[in-house]
Formats: sequence, structure tokens, C-alpha cells
Amino acid sequence: MSGKQSLKQGEKVLFGIFGAFIVAAVIGYAVLEFVRLNSDKPMFEVKTHYEFDEEGRRGTQIFREARCTSCHRAMRNGTNMGLSLDGLGSKRSFDWIYSFLKKPEDTYGAMTIDHGMPPKEAAYVAEMSDEDLHAIASFLFGLKAEQGSASSALPPEGKSQFIDSMLKMVAPDDWGDKYQDVREKQAEEK
Ligand code: HEC
Repeated sequence: MSGKQSLKQGEKVLFGIFGAFIVAAVIGYAVLEFVRLNSDKPMFEVKTHYEFDEEGRRGTQIFREARCTSCHRAMRNGTNMGLSLDGLGSKRSFDWIYSFLKKPEDTYGAMTIDHGMPPKEAAYVAEMSDEDLHAIASFLFGLKAEQGSASSALPPEGKSQFIDSMLKMVAPDDWGDKYQDVREKQAEEK
């Protein structure tokens, strides 16, 4: 047997295909970065933002220190496994958030999984000081989402062909008898 073995035909083809994939990925990435850096419009529009006062800023720190991020996500901190709290301030009032933190089940009006009485895993939250919970509520209320963003309760304003076609595909024909389209409701309110 000779020490140096040349590649078989099949191996050459296989490596060639791998190589082509890698080259295509690198070129794709380079083009994407070039377009992103040279475009004056952001490629991904940011639809969430925040408005914090002094207390809200203290709240962000407590939020991280109090292990909320082990189950929640907010402002790029925390886990994707749980409930995202981004945009919460556009969905809930300050009072709702504060009262949820203190009395989760009463505020939900339903059974909760983690917040509530011991031995639930997030039972410690309701036992934190009023001052800390107030600061956390200020922080969470400051997390706003524009209409139409993934963390907003409302779909994008105006007509959307995408939403109309999805509705046609998945909703039963008579859904309109039972429910009102939030987009129409919003138009009426204006
Ligand atoms: C062990 C996991 C866990 C931890 C830790 C946790 N949460 Fe939660 N959180 C949940 C779950 C699950 C829900 C949904 C309600 C339920 O079933 O308990 C929730 C719901 C909430 C809601 C209500 C959101 C809504 O609109 O319905 C808020 C606000 C909230 N959590 C804030 C916090 C804060 C602040 C902390 C830290 C001090 C925290 N959570 C820690 C799991 C957790």
C-alpha cells in the first residue's frame, strides 16, 4: 500500500459540494453586511422601546438581581423559554402590573403556574418589599411596544394582505358572527 492515497471520485464531489456551500455562505454574509452597513434604513425596524424614570432604572437592576430573568425576557436580558415581558407597558397598566406582582392569582382571576403562594417557584416575588415591587412595576410599565410589533397586542395598522389571507386560511367562515375584527374596532374608535 502506498503511503499517500489520492481522493476517490465520490469524495472529491462531496468535498466540492461542501466547499461550494461554505463559499456561498461567506459571500451571502458579506453581501448582507455590506447592504446593512451602507443602507440608511435599518434592516430590522425596532418596534419596542422604553421610557424609564429614576425609579424604573432602579427597577431594571432589581429585575436582574431578583432572578426574574430565569423565566422572563425583557430588553434582551433573560431567557427565551418563558414569558417575554417586552412591550408589557403597552398592554397593561401600571396598577395592573403592581397588583399582579403582589397578588398574582387575584389579579389574573385564574390559576397561575409559577407566581402565587409557596411552594410555587416564583412565590418569592410577592414577598419582596413594596418598594422593590413598585420599582419593578415602573420598569416593566416603561417597556413599550409599537402596534404591529411581535410584542404588541394589536396587529399592524391598516390593511394587511398577509393577515387577510391567514384569516381566510385558518379561521372558520363564520368567525365574524362571534368576534369583532380588532382592526375594524380600532378604525371605529378613531
Ligand atoms: C419560576 C419562573 C418565574 C420567575 C422566577 C418569575 N416569573 Fe413572572 N411569570 C412566570 C409565569 C409562568 C407567568 C405566567 C403567570 C403564572 O402562571 O404564574 C409569569 C407572569 C408574570 C407577569 C404577568 C405578565 C402578563 O402580562 O400576564 C409579570 C409582570 C411577571 N411575571 C413579572 C415577574 C418578575 C418581576 C419577576 C422577578 C421578580 C418574575 N416574574 C419571576 C414565571 C416566572
